[in-house]
Amino acid sequence: MLKQKLFKLAAVTAAMGAAFSAYATTELKVAFNQSDKHPQFEALQYLSDNLYKKTDGRYKLNVYPNELLGDQRASLELVQNGAIQMAVVANPLVENYDKTFAVLGLPYLYSNSAHQEKVFTSDVLDNLFKSTDKFGFEVLTAYTAGARSVYTKAAPVQNMDDMKGKKIRVMQSDTMIKMLGCMGGTGVPMNQGEVYTAIQQGVLDGAENNEITYADLKQYEVAPHFSRTQHLMVADLVVVSTNFLQTMSEEDQKTLRELAKDSTKKEFELWNAQISKAEALAKEKGATFTEVDSSQFQQSCKPLTMELLKTPEQKALYEQIEKLK
Ligand code: GCU
Repeated sequence: MLKQKLFKLAAVTAAMGAAFSAYATTELKVAFNQSDKHPQFEALQYLSDNLYKKTDGRYKLNVYPNELLGDQRASLELVQNGAIQMAVVANPLVENYDKTFAVLGLPYLYSNSAHQEKVFTSDVLDNLFKSTDKFGFEVLTAYTAGARSVYTKAAPVQNMDDMKGKKIRVMQSDTMIKMLGCMGGTGVPMNQGEVYTAIQQGVLDGAENNEITYADLKQYEVAPHFSRTQHLMVADLVVVSTNFLQTMSEEDQKTLRELAKDSTKKEFELWNAQISKAEALAKEKGATFTEVDSSQFQQSCKPLTMELLKTPEQKALYEQIEKLK
């Protein structure tokens, strides 16, 4: 009898335990503007699994792809006011708050993907990433988004003359508008979700992005001429709400920061594995890829680089990045 009672008690306690741990899992809503096939989506799943394990099931991520929680600008605001906990946003959007970030997206800054990986996994960005807490968010880590090239509707662009008069979509930041200007074209700021239709309807002549986004968002259907200008390697930043961070214990915050940085290595791996598949898919669907001698663009964008390296903070960061070459 006593045995039976004890057994019952144990079963009830176990059930309560399960209910408690289910109840106690805090889900972090993460805004993401591309699909659930994208390498960054997979890297976030990896981060979520590790976070869940390391915190004994107390935290996990729930990633909403395809701009379901809004475009990058809107989702950054949601993170700031604590309506959602995390988002992936491109570096130029954070640069709108602090111009030191512009250094991370300078034209022709990284010698290659390995150099960029070294920068993102080192500690040279740690202070900068924490400094945004005054705006209500912290940058946890940076993900690669490859190199960006121009793609167009009518014909490939190989030089500054080809760029003349072309309306090319850029991300929503002044630097990106200037960047397109120094390449000879006209930069039109717009959020990613509108790009396909704007090219289709002739509002734009094209856009600029990496091969994975180009394929993931099927933009080859409306802009089949991909010209490998590789003018920028713009990072994506994983941001978290400061309000939310403060609800976590110091130890859990540390775990989240460490695991986020660890997921960057994974993201590079996933990225490198997907890049040639993306290009092959776009080609299969009729896109053409044209190699471009980028030296002309590099030359004409030098003044912009100088303009973006004004403050002591910008210069110091630039030097640290150079050292990791
Ligand atoms: C890249 C980047 C995204 C960004 C997009 C854009 O794909 O990974 O974060 O939103 O470019 O051009 O808007």
